[in-house]
Amino acid sequence: MAELLGGKYEVLELAGEGGMAKVYRGQTHGAAGFVRPIAIKRVLAPLSQNPEFLKMFVEEARVVSELEHPNIAQIHDFDRDRAGEYYLVLEWVDGLTLAEWRQAHRKHGQQTPWHLVAAIGIEVLKALHAAHVRVDPTGSPAPIFHRDVTPQNVMVSKCGVVKLTDFGLARAMDRSSITKPGFVKGKIAYLAPELTYEADPSAQTDLFSVGVVLWEVLAGEKLFKGKDPLKVVGTIRGMEIPNLAEVRRDIPVRLREIIGRALQREANDRYPTAHAMGRDLAALLRTTEEPTDSDVIARSIHWARRQLAEDDQTEAPTKPFAAGPALARAGAADETIPDTSIPLTRRRR
Ligand SMILES: Nc1ncnc2c1ncn2[C@@H]1O[C@H](COP(=O)(O)OP(=O)(O)OP(=O)(O)O)[C@@H](O)[C@H]1O
Ligand SMILES: [Mg+2]
Repeated sequence: MAELLGGKYEVLELAGEGGMAKVYRGQTHGAAGFVRPIAIKRVLAPLSQNPEFLKMFVEEARVVSELEHPNIAQIHDFDRDRAGEYYLVLEWVDGLTLAEWRQAHRKHGQQTPWHLVAAIGIEVLKALHAAHVRVDPTGSPAPIFHRDVTPQNVMVSKCGVVKLTDFGLARAMDRSSITKPGFVKGKIAYLAPELTYEADPSAQTDLFSVGVVLWEVLAGEKLFKGKDPLKVVGTIRGMEIPNLAEVRRDIPVRLREIIGRALQREANDRYPTAHAMGRDLAALLRTTEEPTDSDVIARSIHWARRQLAEDDQTEAPTKPFAAGPALARAGAADETIPDTSIPLTRRRR
């Protein structure tokens, strides 16, 4: 008998693991045999014993659960299991992460179609913009910054719908004692340079991360490399960004310009809003005949899914879109930066 959380959330199988939690595929049971797929995110044991982290996690989960947008993976519930450990119940995105999609192309010697990368980018930017322009019940600006836009946190469903996951949860890490002042945790390789100097997150820090994600998904390789986190920080601060034109030739100049603007060292030189960047990508797509509708994205996800499943012939996924071991490996990404704390210093002016 599978584990049942809160009397209604059935835990089925492990789908993946990140720096903060384990994600399980599950299902929720309603009346008259109603069953709906869900993702259950269980906070890793050391963190779930840290009261300060939990306080922040609860607060963030509450704020983020208010975010309602078609491109944001919805939080359905938040509770504790019998052992007192916290879990989040999320919308199950039946598809692949952008990291897996990219991996499928790379393994088969193919490049990701640039127009689909741009189309996916537009959806991610819509999600970010909605959170950046959030207002509180009194109408005052109360933006939520994602803080962890990475290829693992962008999912594309088998229907071709793009969902940004883990909104704001990185902030719980930052604000708790897990990360003492002056330390940053998480996926360092996607941080804007000013965040490595302890600047506050902003729309522009999220846009820089989008730039890194799009760059990598097009290039098929990491932008800011290095197994050692300090080295990664060094390359971010040094802004050693190879010209995309040298990595692949088929990318339109305009797309390189758009990504280049997101990747500016100074926040003020980046796009003023996620909406503005999305508008430029959309204008670019209008100049191409290539279709980028959700059907085309869906077909690409099905193709990528088959490629990844073939890599794991010994244990092909039993469910059409349940993550098998090959997917878990692809998601973990060979070059994922270890989740290590690094001391950061203030920017010298
Ligand atoms: N809502 C979801 N629906 C389906 N699968 C998901 C969902 N959320 C996460 N996953 C899967 O679980 C994996 C682990 O997710 P998790 O968010 O814990 O880690 P991560 O995104 O790799 O890192 P981080 O800790 O920075 O978020 C993801 O890579 C993805 O494959
Ligand atoms: Mg995640």
